[in-house]
This record gives sequence, C-alpha cells and structure tokens, in this order.
Amino acid sequence: MEWGMKNRLSQLIQKDGRAMFLPIDHGYFQGPTSNLEEPGKTIEPIWPYADAIMLTRGVLRAAIDPAITKPIILRVSGGATMARRDELDNEGITTSVTEAIRLNASAVSMSVYVGSEREHQTLMSLGNLVNECEDYGIPTMAVTSVGTELGKRDARYLALASRIAAEIGARVVKTYYCEEGFEKLVRGCPVPIVIAGGPKVDSEFEVFKWIYDALEKGAIGVNLGRNIWQHEHPVAMAKAVRAVIHENATPKEAQDVFDAVKSGKAD
Ligand code: R5P
Repeated sequence: MEWGMKNRLSQLIQKDGRAMFLPIDHGYFQGPTSNLEEPGKTIEPIWPYADAIMLTRGVLRAAIDPAITKPIILRVSGGATMARRDELDNEGITTSVTEAIRLNASAVSMSVYVGSEREHQTLMSLGNLVNECEDYGIPTMAVTSVGTELGKRDARYLALASRIAAEIGARVVKTYYCEEGFEKLVRGCPVPIVIAGGPKVDSEFEVFKWIYDALEKGAIGVNLGRNIWQHEHPVAMAKAVRAVIHENATPKEAQDVFDAVKSGKAD
C-alpha cells in the first residue's frame, strides 16, 4: 500500500484499530433533517469526540471552519431525494475526485444499493470511484444503503452488500448492525466494517449494546449520526459512544458515562 493511502487510513482508523466517524451528510437526500437544520451548530459541541466527520462539500464549505483538524470523509454520491422515495437508489457521483483533493478530504464515501433496480449503476460508480481515488491514495468508504427498506437489514443481505463493496475495492465498508449473524458478516468482508445507527431509537442503552456487540464481533467502530445528534444530550452520547469504542467500555459503563455527563457530574 502506498504511503498516501496508509497515511489517510491511519487518520481515520486510530492506533487501537478502532474508529468513530460522525456523519452529518443526511441532508444530501433528506434536506434539512431534524437537528441538522444548521449543521455547523449541531456539530460544534460534539466533533471533538469523533475521529472523522462525514459530510458533503456543500455543508463542508458553508458550515465547517477550515481550521478544523479532524479528517474529512467527503460524501461524493447523490442525485436522489426523499421527494421521490421510490427513486432513492438512483444515485450517481456528484463530486469529483479533484474536488475531494481540493477540499483536503481524507476519504470519500458513496452509497451502493445492492438488490435494488439501480444495483448495477451504483456498483459501477463505486468501481469507477475506486479506480480514480486509488491513483491519488484516497480511500473509498462504501455505504451499503437500503433506502426506505429498513427491513432489509438482516445478516444475509448486509453480508452480501458488504462483501460486494469490498470486492469492488472499498477500503472501508459502512453497514448496519444486526443481532443475528453479524460475526459471519464481518468474517465474510475482507476490509474493516463500521456500523451506522439508522433512525434514532428511544433508549441510549440499546445503542451502546449494539456498538459493544458489533465490536466484540469484529467491527472496528461506527459511522453514527442521528443517535448522537438527534439525542437530547448529544455530548453525553458522543462521550459514551467514544468510551465503548476507544476504552472498551461495556454498555453499563457507557451508560454511567452518559448519566454522569448528562447530570453534570462529569465534563
Ligand atoms: C445516510 O444518510 C448516511 O449515509 C449516514 O451517514 C448514515 O446512515 C449514518 O448515519 P445514521 O447513524 O444517522 O444512520
């Protein structure tokens, strides 16, 4: 592996082999998502706890201080919106690799829709993006998207989508956690896996449990958005999630971190 690729990957994946990515790219198809109407404000108190931030070039330019020292994962796919939910898989590449270099991105990311009508289109886009990014030592993170079909998040489907993305050349795969068969999914994917959270759930303890279990079964971390920044206590969530990822905190210990920060007993 070339020095540039190694250098960028080591900005994303920390020395302990773990990673906490903070995505705020949701507006690329959802528009002004709840709690992300002003992404700069949303992210300000929580970005220090993340290892990298994932977002589009529009939000990066408009809302992120260029003096920020966090690595950027630039979302470069899009072209579909919630206004046509049946067309969510109709994505292409919206942002060039030249732009990613100009913006000093440490990685790029794009969605693939395995099993959908546009499966071929999105997988070919991934191949083309990887071809170009590898020339410049930029890692590609593939996002295994399910659109509105959240029920697709079972091990069999996610293992298929993750393996395909890795085979095409993604350096990191973002997928979902599933209780049954997650270890098989990880075993079948030759590159590191991070998990997304999906829509916000009611109990933070549940989030800590997913993450803990996913790490135990071989994931390297998270690309977790809504369950942090849509939470009433985003800083407490960010710190607790960080504790699970980088301090091997159990769900119970993470809950203690969360409660202590929430109640003001800890910073
Ligand atoms: C989807 O809109 C994006 O790719 C997100 O980055 C991804 O789903 C992770 O965010 P969340 O944890 O909110 O699902």
